[in-house]
Amino acid sequence: MIMDREAVVAAAVVLVLVSSVAAAAADAINVTTLAFNEGYMPLFGEHNLVRSADGRRVRLLLDRSSGSGFISSDMYDHGFFSASIKLPSDYTAGIVVAFYTSNGDVFEKNHDELDFEFLGNIRGKEWRVQTNVYGNGSTSRGREERYYLPFDPTADFHRYSILWTADNIIFYIDDTPIREVRRCDAMGGDYPSKPMSLYATIWDASSWATSGGRYKVNYKYSPFASDFTDLALLGCRLDPIQQVPSSAGSSCAGDSADLVASGLAVMTPEKRQAMRAFRQKYMSYSVCYDRVRYPEPFPECEIVDSEKRRFRETGHLRFRRHRRVSGRGRIPVVANSSRHPHM
Ligand SMILES: *[C@@H]1O[C@H](CO)[C@@H](O)[C@H](O)[C@H]1NC(C)=O
Ligand SMILES: *[C@@H]1O[C@H](CO)[C@@H](O)[C@H](O)[C@H]1NC(C)=O
Ligand SMILES: *[C@@H]1O[C@H](CO)[C@@H](O)[C@H](O)[C@H]1NC(C)=O
Repeated sequence: MIMDREAVVAAAVVLVLVSSVAAAAADAINVTTLAFNEGYMPLFGEHNLVRSADGRRVRLLLDRSSGSGFISSDMYDHGFFSASIKLPSDYTAGIVVAFYTSNGDVFEKNHDELDFEFLGNIRGKEWRVQTNVYGNGSTSRGREERYYLPFDPTADFHRYSILWTADNIIFYIDDTPIREVRRCDAMGGDYPSKPMSLYATIWDASSWATSGGRYKVNYKYSPFASDFTDLALLGCRLDPIQQVPSSAGSSCAGDSADLVASGLAVMTPEKRQAMRAFRQKYMSYSVCYDRVRYPEPFPECEIVDSEKRRFRETGHLRFRRHRRVSGRGRIPVVANSSRHPHM
C-alpha cells in the first residue's frame, strides 16, 4: 500500500496530537501466565538454566562452557507466544538472546520460524532487536527488520510477544505492535503454516552478532544472564511427536476461539497508529526498503512513504541518529539468516 503524501501529513499531525496517549489507548496485553513446568522444558545447557523457587522465573546463562535454552513442551498450531525478558548488561558484544518459534527440529528442509533476536553490543552501545519471518524453508529470503528500543532492556523486564494466526503475524514490544505481516497469496509457502514450538536461547554468535563479527564475546565479563518471566502460550497445543491435540478429547476450536477472543490479532486504528509511531522513531533497518538485496519488495511489504524516506536503497537509515549514546559512530550489523544452536 502506498499512502499518498497528504494522507501521510494528516496522519503525522494526528500522530503528534495523540502519540502521548496512544500507548495508554492501546489495549494492555492481559493473558494467563504459566510456571516453567506448565509449558516448557530445558533445551540445552541445562546446568546454565536456573529456575526461581516458585518456577515462574527462569534465568538463562552463557559462560565459557555453554549457552542455554528452553523450549515449549508442545507445539502450537497458531498461537501467541510471550515473555517478559531482561537482557544481560555491561559488555555483551557477540551475544544473542533469541525468543522465537520454529519447527526446525521436525521439518529440517522446510521449516517455519518467527524471531525476536536481541543483538548484544560493546559497552555503552545499545542492544538492538531484530525480527524475522521464514516459511517452509525460505532461509534464502530473510525478512529482517531491526529496531532500537525506547528503553534500556537490561534495566527492567519488558514483554516481547509473537502473535501468529492464519491471516497475520504481529510482533509486540510491551503493548505496542511493532510489526505486522499480513498473509497474502503471493507469499505462498513463505508464510509460516506448520505447527511450531517456542524457543528461548542465549548463545555465542561471535561470528555475526555485533558488526558482522568484528566484536567477539568477551568471557572476562561472563556469565551473561538473561531473565524470563510472565511466560505465556496461547493456541492449539499439539503433541510434538504425534502432531495431534495434546489433551485427550480437546479440539483446537476452543483454543482458536480463545485466541480470537483475546483481540491480540486485531489491529485497531489505535494499535496501527502506535505501530507507525514506533517504526517512525525506532526502526533502523527494514527488508522492505532494501532494493540492494531484493530488487522487488516482498509481496506482503506495505510501503509507507514516511518510512521509505528515512531509508537508503539498502534499507538502512538515511541519516545517523544522534541519541543519548555518544562516541564513535555506529556500525551496522551485517545480518544473515539466523542460525540457532539446537543442542
Ligand atoms: C485480565 O483478564 C482476566 C480474565 O480474562 C480478568 O478477570 C481481569 O480483570 C483482566 N485484567 C485487566 C487488568 O484487564
Ligand atoms: C513446502 O515445501 C515442500 C518441500 O519443499 C513442498 O513440497 C511444498 O509444496 C511447499 N509448500 C508450500 C505451501 O509452498
Ligand atoms: C550468509 O550466509 C551465506 C550462506 O549461509 C554465506 O555464503 C554468506 O557468506 C553469508 N554472508 C555473510 C555476510 O555472512
